This record gives sequence, structure tokens and C-alpha cells, in this order.
Amino acid sequence: MGKITAAITGVGAYLPEYVLDNEELSRMVDTSDEWIMTRIGIKTRHILKGEGLGTSYLGSEAVKDLLEKTDTDPMDIDVVICATVTPDMFFPSTANLIAYKSGMKNAFGFDLSAACSGFLFALTTASKMIESGTYKRIIVVGADKMSSIIDYEDRNTCPIFGDGAGAVLLEPNTEGFGMLDAELHSDGGGSIHLYMKAGGSAYPATAETVAKREHYVHQDGKQVFKAAVSNMADVAEHVMLRNKLTADDITYLVPHQANMRIIEATANRIGLPADKCMINIQKYGNTTAATLPLCLWDYETRLKKGDNLLFATFGGGYTWGAGYLKWAYDGGDFSR
Ligand code: UT7
Repeated sequence: MGKITAAITGVGAYLPEYVLDNEELSRMVDTSDEWIMTRIGIKTRHILKGEGLGTSYLGSEAVKDLLEKTDTDPMDIDVVICATVTPDMFFPSTANLIAYKSGMKNAFGFDLSAACSGFLFALTTASKMIESGTYKRIIVVGADKMSSIIDYEDRNTCPIFGDGAGAVLLEPNTEGFGMLDAELHSDGGGSIHLYMKAGGSAYPATAETVAKREHYVHQDGKQVFKAAVSNMADVAEHVMLRNKLTADDITYLVPHQANMRIIEATANRIGLPADKCMINIQKYGNTTAATLPLCLWDYETRLKKGDNLLFATFGGGYTWGAGYLKWAYDGGDFSR
């Protein structure tokens, strides 16, 4: 029997119904469709509306889609990991709530916080748990309700983000499919350029923190842009070199969807043409931990067993990484 690897055996997703387009945003802040399309590349983003609905709602809807598509009994899931920076509450964890809402009574769950790199960090963690031989079925969710921490009076940040969730099922494989490598990084020195100041233990919520709008995302866009371009491309190159992959060997780059210009720069640096790059930023914006699984979900029907995927991410923290995954099934084939 070959070495155990963790293969993705299904993808589910959920996007809330309400669509916020550039025209509506232009009535809220001083911006335009032309500026947003040229500088970021986003046309629309989905926003979760409804009293008391948080990230666990997005995540459990994505899990429901995944379980139905793969005809999986929720009782057969061992572990749920939810990557998010917008948990329903500090505690209990959002993964716990998702497991409860989805009927995964035998699973234990925990959240993982690595901002836009959260899904890749969680996928890598879950893969190691599968490779250990201890766990057989793990669901990794990437979910964020970014609209809950975005200042819709700040034109620097409000056009960028959207809400959404994606989920994948990971199972053991002994034929060489699944997560084959990953390189992950973090650097707390970058925290001053992309963060939400208040609401945590350092600056608990007070009337003053609310008045100073400190419960919203603050981003120094230019600094983050420069760091994202160089780090995403560097780490993607490392993973390619280590695995002796050329641009020809890669079926798709699966990049974090933060800015069309960052995606293009990363693809250029590693020599990949645009048609080998998963792109859906124009529809959903930056959904933080959900961008990678939403890419897999959108492109699933085009994927074939044996395709080589290269993940590349960058986000707040700073956090960044790249991962090499060999796809395990023909897209659209749910009879596995
Ligand atoms: O997912 C986590 C990682 N995040 C990222 O990777 C985001 C990285 N950063 C970016 O994507 C870009 O830096 C932004 C999209 C955030 C901003 O684009 P930029 O090309 O770096 O613009 P800028 O911040 O340098 O602003 C250029 C100009 C400024 O005006 P002045 O000072 O030149 O007169 C801004 O005030 O554009 C102005 N501006 C806007 N104009 C119209 C900023 N936001 C807007 C807006 N509409 N929404």
C-alpha cells in the first residue's frame, strides 16, 4: 500500500442571495465602476442579510451542499475545521456551530485564524491529520461574513470584500492523489498594515472604540499590495521548484482573489497564461478564507483526475503560502 495522502473528494459552496454591485456602491461612497474594475477587477459581491445570521450560517449551507453532492452521511465526518476571521462569536467556535447545524454529531471542530490564507493553512493541517492515519473524513470550511467588519463609509476597503463560504471533503488516498506539498509562512510585522484594531482582548469594545470606527478592517493597500505580489510569487516558485513542476505541468493556479492585478502578477512571475488561472474575483470579490474553495467550486466541472493544482495565498497577519495538490476525480463525477 502506498503512502497515505489527503485527497479532496468533493466541493460545496454557498453565496448569499443579495448582490451588491458597483453602481450601488457608487451611491454609498465616492467611487465608480470604472475605478473598481481598473484597480481591483470586481463587479459584484454577495452580502449576507438577515438578523442573527453569521459565518456559521454561510459555512453550514456550504457543508449542506457538499454532503448532498457527495452523498455523505454527516455522522461519518470525524473533524470539521473552519477557517475564518469573522466567527459568529469569540466562542464557541464557528466550526462547532457548523457541525451542530449540519448534524455532524461525531465530529469535533475548531476554528483556524489566518485571514486570507486561512483555507490553505486549514487544508494543510487537515491533510496532516489524514496522513497520520487517525482520521478518515475531514471537512475544511473557508467562510467569512466580511460585511460584518467592513466600513461602508470607507471607499478604500468597502469595494474589495464580499461574503461567502466554500467547503471540501478530505479523505485518505494511497494512489498519489491529494495534497502533496505546502509551504506556509506568517510575519506578525505585517499586522500594522491590515487589521481590525478593537473588539479583541487588547482593545475590548467600548463606546469610544465604536465611535472611532475601530471595529472595521483597516488596510494600508499599497503596503499590502507590494507584499502580496512578491510573497505569493516567491512561495509559489519554491513549491514548483521543490516538486520539479514547470508551468506546463500545472493545470491551474488557484490564487487568493484579492485583486486582479495581484493575480496577474503572480501568474506572470511563474510563467502561467491567464487561461491557466482560476479567476472569479469579478463575481464575488475578496471573500477572505472562502476564495480558494469558491474557485474550486466554480471550476470543478472542468477538472480532471490527475490535474495539478497550485494554490497561492496572501493575507492579513501577514500570512502567505502555496500548496501543490493532485486532483482526485473527474469534475461532475459524484459517483465515487
Ligand atoms: O486579501 C488580503 C490582502 N489584500 C490585498 O491583497 C489588497 C492589496 N491592495 C490592493 O489591492 C490595492 O492597494 C487597493 C485596491 C486596496 C487600492 O488600489 P491602489 O491602486 O493601491 O490605490 P491607492 O490606495 O494608492 O489609491 C490611489 C488613489 C487615491 O487617490 P489620490 O491620493 O491618488 O488622489 C485614493 O484616494 O485612488 C483613490 N481611491 C479611490 N478612488 C475611487 C482609493 N479607493 C478608491 C475608490 N474609488 N474606491
